[in-house]
Amino acid sequence: MDTTQNGSVTTIRNIDSLCTVAEIEGCDFSRFSDRPRPLNMERQRSCDERSLSELSVGLSPHPSYRNTDLSFRFVDHFDGAFSPGRRSGFNTPRSQNGFEPHPMVAEAWEALRRSLVYFRGRPVGTIAALEESDEKLNYDQVFVRDFVPSALAFLMNGEPEIVKNFLLKTLRLQSWEKKIDRFQLGEGVMPASFKVLHDPVRNTETIMADFGESAIGRVAPVDSGFWWIILLRAYTKSTGDSSLAEMPECQKGMRLIMSLCLSEGFDTFPTLLCADGCSMIDRRMGVYGYPIEIQALFFMALRCALILLKQDAEGKEFVERIAKRLHALSFHMRSYFWLDLKQLNDIYRYKTEEYSHTAVNKFNIMPDSLPEWIFDFMPKHGGYFIGNVGPSNMDFRWFCLGNCIAILSSLATPEQSTAIMDLIESRWEELVGEMPLKVCYPAIESHEWRIVTGCDPKNTRWSYHNGGSWPVLLWLLTAACIKTGRPQIARRAIELAESRLLKDSWPEYYDGKLGRYIGKQARKSQTWSIAGYLVAKMMLEDPSHLGMVSLEDDKHIKPLLKRSASWTF
Ligand code: GLC
Repeated sequence: MDTTQNGSVTTIRNIDSLCTVAEIEGCDFSRFSDRPRPLNMERQRSCDERSLSELSVGLSPHPSYRNTDLSFRFVDHFDGAFSPGRRSGFNTPRSQNGFEPHPMVAEAWEALRRSLVYFRGRPVGTIAALEESDEKLNYDQVFVRDFVPSALAFLMNGEPEIVKNFLLKTLRLQSWEKKIDRFQLGEGVMPASFKVLHDPVRNTETIMADFGESAIGRVAPVDSGFWWIILLRAYTKSTGDSSLAEMPECQKGMRLIMSLCLSEGFDTFPTLLCADGCSMIDRRMGVYGYPIEIQALFFMALRCALILLKQDAEGKEFVERIAKRLHALSFHMRSYFWLDLKQLNDIYRYKTEEYSHTAVNKFNIMPDSLPEWIFDFMPKHGGYFIGNVGPSNMDFRWFCLGNCIAILSSLATPEQSTAIMDLIESRWEELVGEMPLKVCYPAIESHEWRIVTGCDPKNTRWSYHNGGSWPVLLWLLTAACIKTGRPQIARRAIELAESRLLKDSWPEYYDGKLGRYIGKQARKSQTWSIAGYLVAKMMLEDPSHLGMVSLEDDKHIKPLLKRSASWTF
């Protein structure tokens, strides 16, 4: 079967492997139980051993998190190992604390269900945006990254089937042979999005996938494979059903993603070299190089793969390579991407042109390249992982997704996680303003905008990816808040979202310094804005859900830190 679109050819690679996956996909989902299975403690335990204390939050936050919110308690029925999904029996779940849920919750569930996409009678994902607009672009597709909050909402509501269907469907797409013009993409590349096509004449349905060939800028989505692994682990954790991850096809899918990102090259850093536009910010925004979003997702996916990969003949080698990479990556990120007042002052005083391995200024950063805004932005207490670090290059912009994932994956040490939350609190107006949350801060303007974005009219200052506010990020902030024992911060942000999101019909993003205006070209009924809100609400109500998206600090990958005394408060 060939699908030709935009001059690019997508063919099925290998009939043998196709058959295997097709059997699974050929509607034999009945093999898998619809309901969450009883907790498989054996598996859980072996996971823990390998994952080096991977378990989710315990009964209390890490001792080094300063719990500034005394009203906050982790639910004490939580066993710290497993957060089984619960199905409420209603389409819209009721609050477990006896209070009526916010009226927006019911509306959000209805909207989320309306966004479901079916393939041959089964739900396989959610459409990016439901809004009927003249300019559809690709918002009528199921995006891998956009589906993550939807998937989490369904898992939290005890509806894992759609997540399983999605994971298997996208796995099948991975096995397609991907070609752009005459160039063949790596075997492990996962699609950015897919679409179900109906042929009313033949009454058939087919799937069309985009691996970057149709995307604006033709960039392959580096984040898709990482989100896929992270979601597979969330599914396993939530349901206790490890049989999906243990399937040979899923094991192979993970190994293919791992071979892509662990392949040897000319690198001198353990971070992953990326093109602009290869993740959530999918247009040119000066994030090429070693963007924090990808490095944090890479770290989290490596940790999830370490938990899920079998140590069999084929998996063993990967497990070893992953462990080594994690060790190097955490050291590199925690040391060189971290910025706080002390580190900023050190950079400000850097000498340049230091040759030899004793260099303090390892990447030859010119102090003159420090932007003006950073001196005022940096609070006394607090810090964050900067946007990018490469040769003579530090991008000091704040990126929300990467920093939240750093907290959730424990790429950030407990002290760094606390510092990130301190920064969000003390720079509330800049990072949250009137609508959570800024995808990045600050915006680039004028000449810099021209050079960096290539004069992108969608990414003008304080709009869209360039300093716009994205409600979807609410779930990540909430998860980070719960993990660090600061749920009050999430509550404040959720209240802000509740004052407008439904009234404004769930926009994709907001514009302006404070996020006061509905985005210039923002879609309405944007699914991940809806799902992000639901996930934030459910997680705050039942913090045991955090285990699905959080990994505990891992003693074995502790770096040998000597720098920055401000990490210990
Ligand atoms: C925009 C976003 C991207 C998202 C897509 C679909 O292109 O930048 O992250 O996946 O819309 O919602």
